[in-house]
Amino acid sequence: MTEPRIVDRLRRDPDAERRALAAGLTATPASIPPKYFYDAVGCALYGAICELPEYYPTRTERAIFAEHRAAIAGALGRGRQFVDLGAGDCGKALQWLPLVAPVRYVAVDFAGDAIGAALAKLAPDFPGVELAGVVTDFTRGLDLDADLTAGPATYFYPGSSIGNFTPSDALAFLRDIRRHCAARPGSGLLIGVDTKKDKARLDAAYDDAVGVTAAFNRNVLAHVNRILGSDFRPEAFAHRGFYAADAGRVEMHLEATAPQRVRLPGATRTFAAGERIHTENSYKYAPSEFAAMLAAAGFADVRCWQDAHGDFAVFHAA
Ligand code: AVJ
Repeated sequence: MTEPRIVDRLRRDPDAERRALAAGLTATPASIPPKYFYDAVGCALYGAICELPEYYPTRTERAIFAEHRAAIAGALGRGRQFVDLGAGDCGKALQWLPLVAPVRYVAVDFAGDAIGAALAKLAPDFPGVELAGVVTDFTRGLDLDADLTAGPATYFYPGSSIGNFTPSDALAFLRDIRRHCAARPGSGLLIGVDTKKDKARLDAAYDDAVGVTAAFNRNVLAHVNRILGSDFRPEAFAHRGFYAADAGRVEMHLEATAPQRVRLPGATRTFAAGERIHTENSYKYAPSEFAAMLAAAGFADVRCWQDAHGDFAVFHAA
């Protein structure tokens, strides 16, 4: 067994990140990028969201994977490289590894601690697989050429995380993956996408009855306070999570319940009562829309699997 190799390709620039975060908060409307949700508490809260009765995406994707396991595994082939984009605890990939028997498993994530621990835990069970971790922000470009051979690879992007991109950024990202696939003949992308549906169900999925999503949304302010030394009071902001059907996206915001004065590095930001901080977009796609995006990105061979209600879609594109 070889030790998992972890490379840190994240050229961290904390000052630039702080400046960008502060600039988003001083702007009108104010915004915080969704990556700041995921501190340790935020990761735990997201885990709890995935178990909520209202939040169907995680369990529906799991059910589609289970029901169409053989067909999907057939599309993936065996003995390729398996590139897990946003691997986290590697839990979702773990179900595929025995079926696809990759030569190499590359876990890619922004959070280096998580993949290091996950790979170490997984190593004894996959002695024949070369394990590697890459710490990078792949949403800014898929810089993995040094981590992969010229052999075929499966790019795995489950969970409908693609929904955080605007449609034009999503297309650019898919083109990037397509370019990687073209450089390695026989490669493909396995991706999960949340579908457009009834507003009432989407509203409930992002504003659940017990308030886990509200806690997840407010927690971003505690994280921002640690990064910027700001003094946001999370309890003074109300959670808003709703489907904006015209835009085809769920939006999450934090709404000041009363006038607020917040200390930011080098500035004071005031919020009027009712003023919002935009924290997330989660775009939803009709399967035909997403198939068209894959085609526009250059994929010629596209397959789609769905649950009986059409709540979620899994695509393989090559
Ligand atoms: C992790 C981006 C897939 O958009 O559904 C869940 C994040 N935000 N509830 C999503 C999220 C609020 C989630 N993704």
